[in-house]
Amino acid sequence: PEFKLFSFLTSASPTQASEPPNPTEEQPPLGTGSLSFPWSHLRLPGYIVPLHYHLLLHPNLTMLSYSGTVRIELQVQNNTNWVVLHSKGLRITTATMLDQNLAHLSDKVLPVLHNPTHEQTAIFSPRVLSGGQKYFLFLEFGAELGEGFYGFYRSTYRTSSGETRNLASTHFEPTSARMAFPCFDEPSFKANYSVSIRRSRAHIALSNMPVEQTVVLDDGLMEDRFAVSVRMSSYLVAFIVCDFRSVSATTASGVKVSVYAAPEKWQHTHYALKAAVKLLEFYEKYFNIKYPLPKQDLVAIPDFQAGAMENWGLITFRETSLLYDPATSSGSDRVWVTMVIAHELAHQWFGNLVTMQWWNDIWLNEGFARYMEYISVNATYPKLRVEDYLVDTCFAAIGRDSLNSSRPISSAAESPTQIEEMFDTVSYNKGACVLHMLRHYLTDQVFQSGIVRYLRRYSYSNAHNQDLWDSLANTCSEEEFSSGEHCYSSRQAAKNANLYAGEHLDLTSMMNTWTLQTGVPLVTVTRQGSHLLLKQERFLRTAHPSDPAWPSLQQGFLWHIPLTYRTDTSTSIHRHLMTTLTDSVDVGEEVGWVKVNVDMAGYYLVHYDGSGWDDLIQLLKDNHTALTFMDRTHLIHNAFQLTTAGRLSLDKALDLIGYLRSESHTVPLLEGLGYLEAFYRIVERRDIPDVTQNLRTYILWYFRDVIDRQTWSDKGSVSERRLRSELLSLACHLGDLPCLKQAQRSFTHWLDSNSTLNLPADVAETVYSVGAQEDTGWASLLQTYTHSLSETHKHKILSALASSRDTNKLTRLLELGLEGEVIRTQDLDSLIAMVARNPRGHHLAWSYVQKYWSTLVDKFQLGSFSIRNIIIGTTAQFSSTEELTEVRVFFESIHEQASQLRVTEVAMDNIQKNILWLQRNLGTLRSWLDQQID
Ligand code: BES
Ligand code: ZN
Repeated sequence: PEFKLFSFLTSASPTQASEPPNPTEEQPPLGTGSLSFPWSHLRLPGYIVPLHYHLLLHPNLTMLSYSGTVRIELQVQNNTNWVVLHSKGLRITTATMLDQNLAHLSDKVLPVLHNPTHEQTAIFSPRVLSGGQKYFLFLEFGAELGEGFYGFYRSTYRTSSGETRNLASTHFEPTSARMAFPCFDEPSFKANYSVSIRRSRAHIALSNMPVEQTVVLDDGLMEDRFAVSVRMSSYLVAFIVCDFRSVSATTASGVKVSVYAAPEKWQHTHYALKAAVKLLEFYEKYFNIKYPLPKQDLVAIPDFQAGAMENWGLITFRETSLLYDPATSSGSDRVWVTMVIAHELAHQWFGNLVTMQWWNDIWLNEGFARYMEYISVNATYPKLRVEDYLVDTCFAAIGRDSLNSSRPISSAAESPTQIEEMFDTVSYNKGACVLHMLRHYLTDQVFQSGIVRYLRRYSYSNAHNQDLWDSLANTCSEEEFSSGEHCYSSRQAAKNANLYAGEHLDLTSMMNTWTLQTGVPLVTVTRQGSHLLLKQERFLRTAHPSDPAWPSLQQGFLWHIPLTYRTDTSTSIHRHLMTTLTDSVDVGEEVGWVKVNVDMAGYYLVHYDGSGWDDLIQLLKDNHTALTFMDRTHLIHNAFQLTTAGRLSLDKALDLIGYLRSESHTVPLLEGLGYLEAFYRIVERRDIPDVTQNLRTYILWYFRDVIDRQTWSDKGSVSERRLRSELLSLACHLGDLPCLKQAQRSFTHWLDSNSTLNLPADVAETVYSVGAQEDTGWASLLQTYTHSLSETHKHKILSALASSRDTNKLTRLLELGLEGEVIRTQDLDSLIAMVARNPRGHHLAWSYVQKYWSTLVDKFQLGSFSIRNIIIGTTAQFSSTEELTEVRVFFESIHEQASQLRVTEVAMDNIQKNILWLQRNLGTLRSWLDQQID
């Protein structure tokens, strides 16, 4: 692999050719026999641009098929005989071309050619299309409603009376609009859309825009004609035909917001409606740009693969991401629903109004939307304390980025599989954390006004990374300068930012080190007199400086790190931009402890050389509140990461969390406990009885008080509720007797009530998991699962069912998942991961994945979030070389698919990391526990 800085050229589009094939004036022979497909690139030619689509669709929910027509207004830039566009799996029955006056170019239907490997279709016009002219391409087409989760697909739901009903809905991002209708399916081909949909009277139709007119047709069908959309990319088009009910409200600025769900789930839409109105109002203010459509619909689709999708004006959700049932939803369910709505609404600006030029920069959509979740929910629902979750977002990013198989935020992606795989932790979480760092560096106001400038400059258009950096620094384009816009030359911009950041500012050079370079830096600090010596390197969990490969793994890596630190001598935050491999700052002789990376706002880890860690360990023991809870969490994270990499001895990290008994904040408490739990899961699975037993005893002894303080209720603040949920779940998992007893009592109550009692939502999953260990309990839970109308409730039950120690029951669950009736296919990936998390189900799940691999790929598509979840979910717990070999052999057996995926590398790196962890730390853990137990 390449480790040079900027070795990936990612922003240019190498395959975007602009030369048309040679035009011809000759009449073609009849049929398509002697014509060959005129285009060999994966990306479409740039010389034909769609301006306006008139799309008519007529789905038949009984026959499960649809027909349609599309008339696309095209701007032709070079003479050509061909129009090349995308289509996949569509029967195109008629193709004609019209000129600007709607006169047919030919009296015959036109030849249509397909290139299925590139998902492209070419239409041949015998008359040359002249550069500079507009034309209309008219196509008639039809297809089945899809059985999966892409294109125009079928979903079903069951009513409480047992009736099954169909609906038809769409999911296009990133490359599935072409499965629903022929189109120029790339994000930079923005166009207006006029959609019409035919439906029966029993149904409603929804699309991005409101209905402008409904016409009754001769055969009694209704035709809804939707208002013309704003200019947008094809992946944002959406339409739905269903019989859902809705609730509506209007924002202060007059946007009509509605939440739709299956009729009987209507009661659970109220929370989402309130949240959506509030958040939409927040974004209009924050971005200082009005939401441009008259309405925003949010729809809960019963079969949905992703969590949600930001189609402009018609956001689609998984039911669990939108519906909130006060009776069965927990505190974290509420946080989740709020965050998903905040995420998809942020996309209405970041993504929909301004779109990345190409999928290599999908982080401009997803990283921003993820980060805006925190900004907007923090402002609108401060009680949810979502800043508590930001650390986990960044820790997840570091988890991936500290493996050799990571990638730069901007990475080349051409094929649909590669594009699909870009929707990962790097784009989402690293993107968000790097933006968080940047916001801290620039200050909130500079950051906000910069992104507002970016959104204004590129509205209804596309952008690159560079455009963002220029907007944030407020540097001018030449046009802006000459049109008298208020912005700066690059030099002025640097001066201006000096005012805020107190550093020299070359934003582009700085941000390129974070977005074009793989990995996360580790900064090692050493005290030397009044100086703090600084050294940066790439942090890798699977490599050690003593490895022969180390120098080559480090070669060429350099970041511009906006360092911050706090010391015991003042309350202020010190700043320093580190742009070289080694550096130093003067902290003063009298300083005791130094904590670098204040509140973890920076995307880097810190190692304290010399007595640095000991000073901090002592500080936490003596007076942990001298540091913020974020700083405490950060220290715990850093210490354990360093032990995984073999850079810090495990006793030090364990000593560091020796203060946790006096920790009263949920976040650092769960961070420390989380590591102990992770160790427990590894040794339990490896069958190392002495360590497993001692660790269990230690955890239950050390955390006895805080466990005993938990109540089996839904009371308290969100963070108290989160702590209760996680602590009790762990205690019961470890076999804590008081916990098991209480859970059994609650479960018996629930059984006695004929499964009608609503258990406290925060502990329901734990109660069910304990109950599921008995045959009758398991059977009652499966029964309730089958009939429950609440997906959040069902999710908790499924997790309990999958925790059974009886492998026959686990096998039964996996079979049900494959059938897709009782357990929906959309939940199969999390089911597999749940079974794999269970030590009794681990190998079962892994064999199942190998056996049904091609079925799973058919259901979910290679590269999808579900397939990645299945691979990581079933392999992440392996920790031996034998298991690594087994996984490698399997990936080799599916080489053709595996080689297209990054996730297979990630999976193997993960196992390698676990193997190394055991080698490096098992001995220390064993003797440390022996000492403690004594
Ligand atoms: N744009 C994505 C949906 C998406 C995901 C499309 C993957 C294509 C591939 C949407 O905005 C999104 O990010 N959804 C998340 C949930 C969200 C709260 C992070 C998802 O589906 O996991
Ligand atoms: Zn998103």
